[in-house]
Formats: sequence, structure tokens, C-alpha cells
Amino acid sequence: MDVGCGTGQTVLQLAEMVGPQGRVVGVDMAHVLLDAARERTNGLGYVSFIESDALLLNLPDDSIDAVFSRFGVMAFADPVATFSNFHRMLKPTGRLAFVCWRSLEENELDVLPLRVAGLEHLADPTPFSFEAPSYVQDILEKADFNDIRIVAHDQAVTSGDLDAMATVLLRVGPLGRIVRENPELRALAETRVRAALAAKGDTANVALQAATWIVTARA
Ligand SMILES: C[S@@+](CC[C@H](N)C(=O)[O-])C[C@H]1O[C@@H](n2cnc3c(N)ncnc32)[C@H](O)[C@@H]1O
Repeated sequence: MDVGCGTGQTVLQLAEMVGPQGRVVGVDMAHVLLDAARERTNGLGYVSFIESDALLLNLPDDSIDAVFSRFGVMAFADPVATFSNFHRMLKPTGRLAFVCWRSLEENELDVLPLRVAGLEHLADPTPFSFEAPSYVQDILEKADFNDIRIVAHDQAVTSGDLDAMATVLLRVGPLGRIVRENPELRALAETRVRAALAAKGDTANVALQAATWIVTARA
């Protein structure tokens, strides 16, 4: 089960891993994203989708082998209750694995564009709600998970050259959200982000550091 699967890229990757003998279920509460995911996986009979808040998902007890998520678990209204629901649906041998952001401060990918644009104070803290490993550990223990491992993962990420990277930074992530909601801030932000990326040197291949936790546990 891919929780918060969005437009389904990782559903496709999981489907490749389990093969047609297996089954992959993507879950998301955003109708429009699920439509895109359905289109993307069209024809794969062993892939299905459920539109639901993960908290309310009511698959049977002990019915799932693995719960996976890429950046889909940080916005839960009640994280303990939602992870408890995953635990209920997992088989006794079931496994949990997800990736989430570490702090904004540690994520150059997000903090650099926000700072140069002078808009850090407007950033939504939700994507970074799992920044403290003790908080994540506590949620998973309360939800009855065992063998909890929280491992830091650092990776330089790129969308390509300066133009491509600036386009993505102004469309998604914390700065993307701010300029989507406040279009009047876009022009100045774009000028400053492009200058900061240019200052990194190689404009043909611009990369910024991302800092995540890879979290795994057993039911
Ligand atoms: C940052 S996106 C990640 C999407 C996808 N996993 C990816 O990596 O491309 C977070 C996704 O989680 C979904 N989401 C957040 N809270 C959720 C909840 N309580 N139940 C179901 N989906 C949720 C959002 O609708 C969104 O599609």
C-alpha cells in the first residue's frame, strides 16, 4: 500500500517490484491526483486506488504485507491514530517504510530559495513536522510498531540546468507554494533564486542538497 501516493510515480515503481503476482494499492485523499495516477497505471490489473484519508481507510485487519510512503505521512491530522490504523491493517509479519523531510534548516533545496527570496517567514511548516526523530519514534511506538529505524539520508537533487531548476523551485516545494498563493511575489523571487543558483557555478547542472529520514519498522 502506497500512502499519499499522489500522481502515482512510486505506485508504478512498487508495481514493477511486486510484479503481476502481487498487488499494489495507492491511497490518497486528493481526487485530482488520483485521476492522474489512474491514467498513468492504466492497464496494470494488479494496481488499484482508494480515495480516502489514510486515517479512515478501512481495509480488513491483517490484510497488507507492506505500507510505503514517499512524503505522504507528514500532514496527518492525528498521526498516532493513522499509524495505528496502518498497524491494524498490516499482517503480523508486515513492514512499514517511508521517507519524510528532516528540518527546513537542513534542506538546502527548500531553505536556499526561501532565504534568497526573503520569504522564509511564510513557509508552511507541515512538510517538516517529522523533523525530530524522537517525535517519529514516539508516534510509531504508540502505534505499536517494533524494530523502528530512523536513518538520515542526504542527497544532492537536480532538475537539470539553471532554467529547469528555477522553474521547479518556483512551482513546487515551500517557495512554489508561496508564489502560487501570492503571485505578486513571483517576479522578485524568480530574479533572486536565479541569481543564487547562478552563483553556485555550473549553470548546466544545478544541484541542491535534500535531507530526509528513511524510516522503517515492523508490525
Ligand atoms: C508531498 S505529496 C507526495 C505525493 C507522492 N507520494 C510523491 O512522492 O510524488 C503528499 C501526498 O499525501 C497526500 N496526503 C496527505 N495527507 C493525507 C491523508 N491524511 N490521507 C491520504 N493522503 C494524504 C496528499 O494528498 C498528497 O498527494
